[in-house]
Amino acid sequence: MALKELISKLPMEDLLNVQTRPFSNHSVEFKTPFTADERAKMLEEVGLNVFFFPSQMITGCDFLSDSGTTTMTSEQWAALHTGDEAYGSNRGYFKLMEQVQDVFGEKYFSDPTAGKPNAFIFHQGRAAEDALFSLIGRLGEGMIIPSNGHFDTTHANIEANGIKAVNLFSPELKKPGSLDLFKGNIDIDRLKELLEKSADKVPLIYVTITNNTGGGQPVSMENIKQVSDLARHYDIPFFIDACRFAENSWFIKKNEDAYKKTSIKDIVRKIFSYADGFTISFKKDGLSNMGGGFFAKSDGKFAKKYPELLDDMMNYQIIKEGHPTYGGLSGRDIMALATGLKTITKEEYLDYRIGQVQEFGESMKRKGLPVLTPTGGHAVYLDMNKFYEGTDMKPGDFGGISFTALLLAAYGHRACELGYFAFGSYDPETEEEHFPEVNFVRFAVPRLKYEKQDLESVAEAVKNIYDARQDIRPVDVVYGKELSLRHFKSRFKFRR
Ligand code: F0G
Repeated sequence: MALKELISKLPMEDLLNVQTRPFSNHSVEFKTPFTADERAKMLEEVGLNVFFFPSQMITGCDFLSDSGTTTMTSEQWAALHTGDEAYGSNRGYFKLMEQVQDVFGEKYFSDPTAGKPNAFIFHQGRAAEDALFSLIGRLGEGMIIPSNGHFDTTHANIEANGIKAVNLFSPELKKPGSLDLFKGNIDIDRLKELLEKSADKVPLIYVTITNNTGGGQPVSMENIKQVSDLARHYDIPFFIDACRFAENSWFIKKNEDAYKKTSIKDIVRKIFSYADGFTISFKKDGLSNMGGGFFAKSDGKFAKKYPELLDDMMNYQIIKEGHPTYGGLSGRDIMALATGLKTITKEEYLDYRIGQVQEFGESMKRKGLPVLTPTGGHAVYLDMNKFYEGTDMKPGDFGGISFTALLLAAYGHRACELGYFAFGSYDPETEEEHFPEVNFVRFAVPRLKYEKQDLESVAEAVKNIYDARQDIRPVDVVYGKELSLRHFKSRFKFRR
């Protein structure tokens, strides 16, 4: 009997309950052992600020960020060796041009040998943001940039240039028990209201995919199209913060009926066909450890409305980052990045990647832990308000900070408070704290780094802390509560 016939009698491979990963390890790194007491001592020395905790002492998983923490593929490591360190127009730059054209659309990266550049690479996302907003800031006073949720550095870069950054979160994000699948959407009604009143003050509309500040939730194609239509109606350029564009596209494919049969690559193309430009940190969905960019569609509204800004961008870049053809990156970084962009839209990669993050969220949920649902693409968000329900923890006690300190000291896992402390602010005049709308601790999962058992172990550790929540002590801020971007700098102490 032919083998083909024999195997046809067995259950098919894609029906197995547990699937193998679509890759195998290429190289691994052993951890250094440290005890909980050693970690606790160190954490107290750094004032309970997890950013200052030496990563070498992380014996569990490091969820501080999914940014730049990617494990590269063997193809990327090989590409590093082909990096061309020429000072102008290195080989990798043209490879990157091909990839950006292929992934996002030809008009986002015009060949600079044929005319003015409209694509600018930077060493990371916030450098691209600084370039864009410092140039936009020169256009006038009293401007507003609305978004579905500006990331913290984006917010800071906008406001540092005298522009008001406005977050129009979807109402579904705050609705208890909402099963909405696109909680990352911009609140289109509030956007309409804002434009009706103040369209002349809006130099750009910005949509972040996925919505990192809004629980890592995806944005639907429908919402993107609605924003694009409004932007066109008011003659305002529409920009995307594209850090996690591939993950967002995966959610559109899974959850938006019209796109179930569309390939990820075509979904990405469609999203960017609606936009006039985008900024990106390639440290996320560039599958790279370094890199960012600003791209304006050659025939888009931005290039047409503000042609002088593209010239200014070139001047800015030469002064701050280097010639646009290397933009603050070494030739080898550019090669790794161009190669990473080839992998990121592969469906088997995204199925695995997002499947892993979803399973991590499910595992927490099964243990009764209050995670934001549905789980987003790059991180699991623990809702600290629900976590401390029924305890004496008050907003100004910063229970999220207590939690991250306990998790790191007791179990060696580093998560990040993105809630009342990170996004809150202290007014020295009134001596009052202002709390944001959302209060999370985020577990951002690095790409291609951890295995299922790592994440299972974390869920168990979190459950242990949850069970002990009545006894968790508040923290006092001993340094920096009045500073901007304070979560990166402040120091804390457990209250006696
Ligand atoms: N936009 C979004 C949506 C981001 O998540 C980030 C970074 C940036 C812009 C800035 O990019 O770090 O390359 O300068 N997010 C990381 C995080 C740091 O942990 O979420 P960058």
